[in-house]
Amino acid sequence: MEIVIVPDASAAGELIAAAITDLLTDKPDALLGVATGSTPLPIYRSLAERVRDGRLDASRARICQLDEYVGLPAGHPESYRSVVLREVVEPLGLTEDSFLGPDGNAADVAAAATAYDRALAEAGGVDLQLLGIGTDGHIGFNEPCSSLASRTRIKTLTRQTRVDNARFFDSIDQVPHHVITQGIGTILEARHLVLLATGEAKAEAVALAVEGPLAAAVPASALQLHPHATVVVDEAAASRLKLADYFRDTYAAKPAWQKL
Ligand code: F6R
Repeated sequence: MEIVIVPDASAAGELIAAAITDLLTDKPDALLGVATGSTPLPIYRSLAERVRDGRLDASRARICQLDEYVGLPAGHPESYRSVVLREVVEPLGLTEDSFLGPDGNAADVAAAATAYDRALAEAGGVDLQLLGIGTDGHIGFNEPCSSLASRTRIKTLTRQTRVDNARFFDSIDQVPHHVITQGIGTILEARHLVLLATGEAKAEAVALAVEGPLAAAVPASALQLHPHATVVVDEAAASRLKLADYFRDTYAAKPAWQKL
């Protein structure tokens, strides 16, 4: 894993947006896996800015979702489909045709999850998957003790995750209990994983994922298995890393670090 410590969330957004720009320059129809939540928003803002000022041509990019709530009515503003359309697809000037996501309202949710796993493979696999991390160490919605080999499926959210996500709803009671999430095994098939964590609240989860043992109890530790995984953290999220100075030195010594 490469650990990159940056001063703040905005620097992280710029760095990752630059990596995505490089990817889309090399492969204009790359499949970009996006995460929702607050953390990746600086990335999406920077990408939109690059499209507006002509530094990025994203017109052939394809976008896919990491996870989705089960049972929110179609078009609900907090369904992850709506969020990704609003924050990524529309600002990049793309349409729903370039977008893949699981159907959280399917009559058979388990079949919809399996179909989504298959659709990702049929699309040629994810080129770059953005990830956030939960305070409990989850990636996607693979909560602690998810199988490291899991495929896209239904999961039940922990109370902690529902508390964390209640800020997007009027009350915690409105946060769905169930989700469809890419499995850890599915996520590991992406060609490049980029996990972004910002803020002190993520510091412990980051330290466990990066410096702790590989463990299903800390799903983000599965990135240790991936040959091309990048973890970008701001100073606050890096604050519990014992090897922080080593990571800083490595980053400073690497030439042309725009390419993650
Ligand atoms: C969202 C997702 C989650 C979030 C994580 C962090 O699609 O898969 O794993 O990335 O819960 O959320 P924020 O960024 O809101 O702290």
